[in-house]
Amino acid sequence: MNKIKLGVILGGMSTEHDVSVISGTSVISNLNKEKYEIYPIYINTDGTWYKYQGTVSKEALATNKIENVFDYLKELDVIFPVLHGLYGEDGSIQGLLELINKPYVGCKILSSSIAMDKVYAKIIFEKAGIKQSKYMYIKALKDTYIYVDKDFKENTMNLEEICTLAEKELHYPIFVKPSNSGSSIGISKASNQDELIQSIQNAAQYDTKLLLEEQIVGKEIECSVLGNEVVRASALGEIIPADSFYSYDAKYNNSQSKTLIPARISKDLESKVQSLAIKAFKAIDGKGFSRVDFFVSDTTNEIYINEINTIPGFTEISMYPKLWEYSGLKYSDLLDELINLAMNN
Ligand SMILES: Nc1ncnc2c1ncn2[C@@H]1O[C@H](COP(=O)(O)OP(=O)(O)O)[C@@H](O)[C@H]1O
Ligand SMILES: [Mg+2]
Repeated sequence: MNKIKLGVILGGMSTEHDVSVISGTSVISNLNKEKYEIYPIYINTDGTWYKYQGTVSKEALATNKIENVFDYLKELDVIFPVLHGLYGEDGSIQGLLELINKPYVGCKILSSSIAMDKVYAKIIFEKAGIKQSKYMYIKALKDTYIYVDKDFKENTMNLEEICTLAEKELHYPIFVKPSNSGSSIGISKASNQDELIQSIQNAAQYDTKLLLEEQIVGKEIECSVLGNEVVRASALGEIIPADSFYSYDAKYNNSQSKTLIPARISKDLESKVQSLAIKAFKAIDGKGFSRVDFFVSDTTNEIYINEINTIPGFTEISMYPKLWEYSGLKYSDLLDELINLAMNN
């Protein structure tokens, strides 16, 4: 049997470039070499594409530039974009692959872009009747701010007025997030007006659309989903961040952060979270795979959705593959299944 020509794309133009290199490398080393002829592709932070030979040093890349990306991709059978964040997880690369009619692993354009944009994901979850934290949507323009209300009416305000309104609408602590973000970059938690001002100014460096959210106190619970029309949900994992929330530092630098598999919640709650994960994935029209993240309140047991990651971390210690492993699906079998789902979609 001929091997499947599989392009694995890693790196990318987002703030999560480095994480993607680790995820992609891990995918490549776990793929079944009997089945796949692997074409590793590296995109640098400027958006230049290279044939990847295991290192991103200048010397290694010097002779490996892909001059015509379209022509290169056209020769392959299927693509696995292991890219996190903007240009990779947001529908951009999915659009490029649609244009050349190439099957690819994971969500299509629409679901990718909805999940990448926290404000629009909220709107879809609301429509699907899935509980989530109370929020406010604002835009940070050059010299002014706009509060976008629930009817999408835009109200121009200054920063102080935004804060006054936020204090009326939401309780502290308030999470401030760039609508397009990942790996917690640009996200902070404000407990008073000074911090709120700082948090808004900080998040505004990453995106003009910002989300202000009330804190949910409870467990951070994650669920992996897998499938196209028939979708399965994995066992659940729990995050215990070393910081006051799961910040960039807590995610990648602080070894005190812990992940627990399975999560410490009842069977009953577990199956509720699993059905909500599938419901949310379907609501955004997800395909292939995603990791769906929740908060479960310690006091009320209410389940709140936080976000969907359409290309979740994929290193050997990442939650997405770990949850499947715990659920009985080995990393390399998981990769086979993802590639099958891409080719039979
Ligand atoms: N409403 C909230 N209540 C409590 N914690 C939150 C809330 N929103 C975000 N967090 C914390 O911030 C982290 C990052 O937020 P998240 O929305 O998941 O952004 P990212 O896409 O960057 O992962 C979460 O993992 C969680 O620890
Ligand atoms: Mg998150």
